[in-house]
Amino acid sequence: MELAGKKIVLGLTGGIACYKSAEFCRALIKAGASVNVVMTPNATQFITPVTMQALSGNPVYVEQWDGRVTNNMAHIAVTRSADAFVVVPCTANFAAKLAHGIADDLLSSLCLARPAHVPFMVAPAMNVEMWQKPATQRNIAQLRADGVGILGPAAGEQACGDVGMGRMLEPDELLQEVVAALQPKVLAGKRVLITAGPTFEPIDPVRGITNLSSGKMGYAVARAAREAGAEVLLISGPTALATPYGVKRIDVQTAQQMHEAVMAQVNGQDVFIGVAAVADWRVANASGQKLKKDGSGDAPQLAFEQNPDILASVAALPQRPYCVGFAAESEKLLEYGEQKRQKKRIPLLVGNIGHETFGLDQNRLVLFDDDGHVELPQADKQALARQLIANIAQRLV
Ligand code: C5P
Repeated sequence: MELAGKKIVLGLTGGIACYKSAEFCRALIKAGASVNVVMTPNATQFITPVTMQALSGNPVYVEQWDGRVTNNMAHIAVTRSADAFVVVPCTANFAAKLAHGIADDLLSSLCLARPAHVPFMVAPAMNVEMWQKPATQRNIAQLRADGVGILGPAAGEQACGDVGMGRMLEPDELLQEVVAALQPKVLAGKRVLITAGPTFEPIDPVRGITNLSSGKMGYAVARAAREAGAEVLLISGPTALATPYGVKRIDVQTAQQMHEAVMAQVNGQDVFIGVAAVADWRVANASGQKLKKDGSGDAPQLAFEQNPDILASVAALPQRPYCVGFAAESEKLLEYGEQKRQKKRIPLLVGNIGHETFGLDQNRLVLFDDDGHVELPQADKQALARQLIANIAQRLV
């Protein structure tokens, strides 16, 4: 429940992407938010206020002269107690009005009258030609300069059949953005490099050695760092996970590839967090062709050689970023965790309490530093990732 207790004002303007606003509204509610919907009259041509009322569970506002709001000042009242205000979709026309402070209907008046402290975001959605016009680009640049969060748009196929920029973000991406807007920006201006997932060490072209890491913790840390305002680069082994919105990702398979990618990107990073479960050994005699049963009954003999330790290599750099390691042990975590921190010469090591965390959504962590260790009690991995990022941010100041 990432938005538990939060009040969100959701504005809809008149574009075909309104059909996604219904799902976005549901996503907000599922995340624990209460939602007040405001629609322009044009938006009601695409989706009815009844639909949005049923989904939000609250009355929908359309008209400026709505007598339901006490003292008849809907344009001020609806956003006064909001935690965030988001316009989904935002048409080219509405962006133009916002950029010029035009307030000629309830929603545009609400935008102009919103309290300064309420995070305000718009999700542009329009035909690619409309998006590319200098007028639209000027208006969007102006909104950015005015501190408005511009969510997307993405490139892709559009309802009109064109392909290009102007497609609205998907409801899940919009949800991530609203959650992100409400997080403290403790890593603003920082660059964070993160490894995540397992590695895959080939035996032959179709077989290999890997481990049970799902990548969930590393991806959650990447998302939390980005929510905190950092520029985040994720170097990931093979996983089935979606890249957190706004995070850049480089995919690798083997520990050596991960090592190369990290060493190529580490320059200028403020923080390095090694969450990946990197294979300690690779197959030294991997076969170029698929190994065959030769009928003798003899099993192939694999030889191993050691992989580079990525974290230790980064920690040994003269201009090293602030280095954080992870450890999953099957026993004696307190003893091995602190030993590992010292061996790798890193200031902070995060221990997974119980190696059975692999693939699960929940975790328990223990943080080791020069002063000893503290535990972060059981919670879902995203919540723990946010606590960890807050903790790392404190160490940077
Ligand atoms: O030595 P161990 O694998 O237990 O240490 C775990 C920590 O070291 C993790 O942060 C992991 O990402 C990192 N590591 C690494 N390169 C390796 C092995 C582990 O960066 N070859």
